[in-house]
Amino acid sequence: MELKEVILKIVASPELHAKWLNSLSMMENVGARKISASEHDHLVDEIVLKHAAEEARHAYYLKSQIKKTGFEGCKTYLMDELLAPVQSQQYLHALDTSISRYLKKNLNFSGNDLRYAAYLLVTYAIEVRADELYPVYEEVLRSIESKISVRMIVVEEQGHLEEMIQQMDDFFGNWEAHGDFALSIEKKLFEKWMTAVATSIQNQSLVV
Ligand SMILES: [Fe+2]
Ligand SMILES: [Fe+2]
Repeated sequence: MELKEVILKIVASPELHAKWLNSLSMMENVGARKISASEHDHLVDEIVLKHAAEEARHAYYLKSQIKKTGFEGCKTYLMDELLAPVQSQQYLHALDTSISRYLKKNLNFSGNDLRYAAYLLVTYAIEVRADELYPVYEEVLRSIESKISVRMIVVEEQGHLEEMIQQMDDFFGNWEAHGDFALSIEKKLFEKWMTAVATSIQNQSLVV
């Protein structure tokens, strides 16, 4: 199923829509925590702090929109309150693990450099994805005249991608090959996540 088709099915059900918002919130929160955890001992500038703060705010904002779906619940990130809980939880961790392994093996990075370089590549790949996913979600929300909007997130994620590119320029110089590797790993993980989300929607429809 295409991304838009999946999202259209999700927003048609208050429960699925609540779980979708909750899953995105959980992933934003994991992202915020990873950014903070990967901070270099010294190379912490305004961009890194802004980025961690904005991802945490996205997690909070998405959570705060759940009540507008009309579904009561999704107060926490427990498994039964998420869509494709296992894949949603694994997505970022698996991306981080693969990219860290690549950096160790190919660039011999360790310690601070490894943490910071992994932050750059993982976040770059996520921002490219966010720039595809959130605009489609926003388009669907507007098409059904939903009270929910993620326009603010769309704008901030675009800013993040530009900042990641600037940070990668500063750190790696030539980062294109590393960036392409990160995108190829992310694509596989995202497809796995989408398949799991689509399956959980179908299962839900069967129950209803
Ligand atoms: Fe975000
Ligand atoms: Fe972001």
